[in-house]
This record gives sequence, C-alpha cells and structure tokens, in this order.
Amino acid sequence: MVPSVASAGDQTRASRIVVLVSGNGSNLQAILDACADGRVAGRVVAVVSNRADVFALQRADAAGVPAVHIGPAPGEPRAEYDARLADVVAGFEPDLVVLAGWMSFLGWFPGQVINLHPALPGDLPGIDSIRRAWDSALAGARTSTGVMVHLVPDDGIDDGPTLSTCAVDIDTSGSFEAFEASIHAVEHDLLVATVASICEDRS
Ligand code: GRF
Repeated sequence: MVPSVASAGDQTRASRIVVLVSGNGSNLQAILDACADGRVAGRVVAVVSNRADVFALQRADAAGVPAVHIGPAPGEPRAEYDARLADVVAGFEPDLVVLAGWMSFLGWFPGQVINLHPALPGDLPGIDSIRRAWDSALAGARTSTGVMVHLVPDDGIDDGPTLSTCAVDIDTSGSFEAFEASIHAVEHDLLVATVASICEDRS
C-alpha cells in the first residue's frame, strides 16, 4: 500500500493551511501533528466547521488554532452560504484549503482546495463509502477499496483531478470496525503525505 502522490502543479509556496471539518477531526489532527513535527512545511491557521458541536473544533482549540463555526442559515441558498464561507476562509489568507470530512466547496479558491475521499477515483462517491465498500465485499463483489485526495472544484461529487491514491485490501474475516479503522489510518497518512508534497512544491 505505497501511496502515490502527484504534484499539485503550479503553486509555488504553501505555509498557511485552512482545514474545513464536519465531525471528529481525526484527519485534522493528523495534519496538525504533521505541521507540529515538521513533516508538513506549513501551519494550520484556521479550522472551520459547518457544525457547532464537533470534536474537531476542540482539537483546534487544543492546538491553539482559531476554530470557527459557520453553519448555513435556515433556508440560505447554497451559493450564498458558500460565498459567506469563502469570505471567512479568505480572511485567513490560505495557501491551501483542505476539506477533511467536509461537504464540497466549489469555485472560490481554484487550484488551492483539496478534498479527502475514502474510496478510489470514480468509485463509491457520496456518503457512507466505507460501509458500502464493506457491504460489497461481503457480497463477493470486491476485494479492495482505497482512499484518494483530489483537487476541488469539481463538477461531480468526490471527483476532480486526482493528487494521490492508496489502495486498501478488504479483509472480511475481520470486523467492520477494524476495516473502518484501517481506512482512517490510511487517510491520515495519505492526507499528510499529500499536504506535505504540496507544501514542499510551494516552498
Ligand atoms: C473521513 O473518513 C473522510 O474521508 C470522510 O469523513 C471522514 C472524516 O473523519 N469524508 P474525521 O472527521 O477526519 O475523523
């Protein structure tokens, strides 16, 4: 399971990272740790969540990083919410925006937004990808899945120019929980390796 990491292209510097989260924030933690110990040549300057009571915001607080909750107002059109969100993110002057368990974020920072998805390109887009991969393995329809990081914006869901991928075998003799944990471990490694590669290209 050696991750393949492609260059993000023409970006020349990366130090200021904004991470968008919606939940537990284990991938955020992987990035915070990698910045702290020098594996990533950058620093997380803000964590933004669309949900208020998520552990990811506590992780940001604990790391001394501004933690911001910006939820959509009732009935607010998606484009207006995205624009409001983009204003706040822009205020932190990011070189890189990482979607780590966040919904799609379209159009505002072309070439600077990356998304993590727990499946390989073109496979299992949308929610519950880990569970769906497991169910399909139990049904005998697959023996592996994977993790990818891709550039946003995209025209689809969990789609866009691929930056890195890592295949993961599915061991159906174990538990779903063990499989899910193995996917998350791969996510943490792949996301950090990809962010490190982008930061390296820009420094
Ligand atoms: C990850 O599995 C990510 O790929 C998915 O949501 C999960 C977020 O986990 N889109 P965490 O909040 O980083 O722990």
